[in-house]
Amino acid sequence: MEFSIKSGSPEKQRTGCVVVGVFEGRKLTASALDIDRAAKGFLAEVLRRGDHEGKAGTTLLLHIVAGLPCDRVLLVGLGKEREMGETAYRKAIDTAVKALKSTGATDAMFFLTDLALRKRDTAFKVEQAVLGILDGLYRFDRMKSKPPESKRALRKVILHVGRRSDIPTGESAVARATAIASGAHLARDLGNLPANICTPAYLASEAQDLAKHHGLECEVLDQKDLEKLGMGAFLAVARGSRQPPKLIVLEHRGAKKDDPPVVLVGKGVTFDTGGISLKPAAEMDEMKFDMCGAASVLGTMKAVALMKLPLNVVGIVPATENMPGGHAVKPGDIVTTMSGKTVEILNTDAEGRLILCDALTYAERYKPAAVVDIATLTGAMVIALGHIATGLFANTDSLARELLQAGDAAWDRAWHLPLWDDYQEGLKSNFADIPNIGSRAGGAITAACFLERFAKAYPWAHLDIAGTAWKSGPDKGATGRPVALLANFLTRRSA
Ligand code: BES
Ligand code: MN
Ligand code: ZN
Repeated sequence: MEFSIKSGSPEKQRTGCVVVGVFEGRKLTASALDIDRAAKGFLAEVLRRGDHEGKAGTTLLLHIVAGLPCDRVLLVGLGKEREMGETAYRKAIDTAVKALKSTGATDAMFFLTDLALRKRDTAFKVEQAVLGILDGLYRFDRMKSKPPESKRALRKVILHVGRRSDIPTGESAVARATAIASGAHLARDLGNLPANICTPAYLASEAQDLAKHHGLECEVLDQKDLEKLGMGAFLAVARGSRQPPKLIVLEHRGAKKDDPPVVLVGKGVTFDTGGISLKPAAEMDEMKFDMCGAASVLGTMKAVALMKLPLNVVGIVPATENMPGGHAVKPGDIVTTMSGKTVEILNTDAEGRLILCDALTYAERYKPAAVVDIATLTGAMVIALGHIATGLFANTDSLARELLQAGDAAWDRAWHLPLWDDYQEGLKSNFADIPNIGSRAGGAITAACFLERFAKAYPWAHLDIAGTAWKSGPDKGATGRPVALLANFLTRRSA
């Protein structure tokens, strides 16, 4: 897909499709009015017949409109003008892409970027348009025996900006957004792949490929190395599986050699059966998505490399399956973590924190400026925040603020939850230093509390993406979140 930025009026564009917005109540936006004028009131006339009300999520496609050099005009419903905000804007972009896909247009020019959004500039609107368009065109059909027949596909999109002087801003937003989209698409692909293909070894080879093609360093530690490091918690989770565990390390060296890096740690459970504390059968297939934290780390590393950020970034991915079996770890088993702390594994389904705690200890060797872990950690997170916001926890408020702002700027939002000492009370074991679960109440918080015990050496934040990493239902699939948040966070750090 090719994106470009242009100023100029809609009625003069020689393109496959001009995309303009209409507010609810059949109110034409400024660019729609320009079109209407050139077409001698044709748009207003069509709307008067009641074929398009401007409701959000609706479109109307007009062909060969007299007086216009473009092949088509796509009217996109925007909803109420008063309620025009980021969500409505993204919805308009998504709606437009969906409609464009079913036309024969191979190129289009979007005037939706002209919509006024409070406190949002051209860069935001262009970035969100590019992300929305690329997300809308994403398909995962590599597991189909024949790729579904595709008609003429959209190949070129021009995004409109109001002034010539906005063109450079628009162009750098396009560059940033295409890098982020390419990272997010990698994350979606890895998430969507079934667990019989996307194994720990597969993730490791993907990381090596990334390194080779994008100038990153990659190191993969095997079972033997993990034993030498004393990663007893990570190894305990891997015990039940026939697939050997991998600890994947990717490095982007964009700054001076001894500049402290930002370390990203991603949960890479390629399939979570729950282990001996077996999960119920319903929707268990979705536990192939339990490596979406890992996928977001690989995707963000790709985006960072594409953007050539002047920053040192390290990605660490502990990857394993969580399976039951004769060798599997059992409830009540006690293991020694790399930190030396002992953990009583009361529930083998709380495995994410067990692999992450050893990865967090491993991260200490980088003397990091900050560590952010990303994990599909708890069902409780889905109950607390649903599928809109990612849960954010941190041991340093300024880091929490940075991530919240990055999420808002990237429209990949997070919400800050408490990590007060009072919650640590829930983690008491009669036999080991700590148990791997607390009570059911505040489950996402106690999980974060467990991790916090292993993140004392640096500013640390934890993103629980259990509700945001994938969608269930008819649109089942990985979302690529929170690659945009992370890429934005790192971009701001590098400035
Ligand atoms: N991967 C799951 C969390 C999860 C469950 C994410 C459902 C999204 C949807 C995690 O490993 C897990 O099983 N957590 C348990 C923890 C519990 C045993 C304390 C949970 O949330 O039920
Ligand atoms: Mn689990
Ligand atoms: Zn899990």
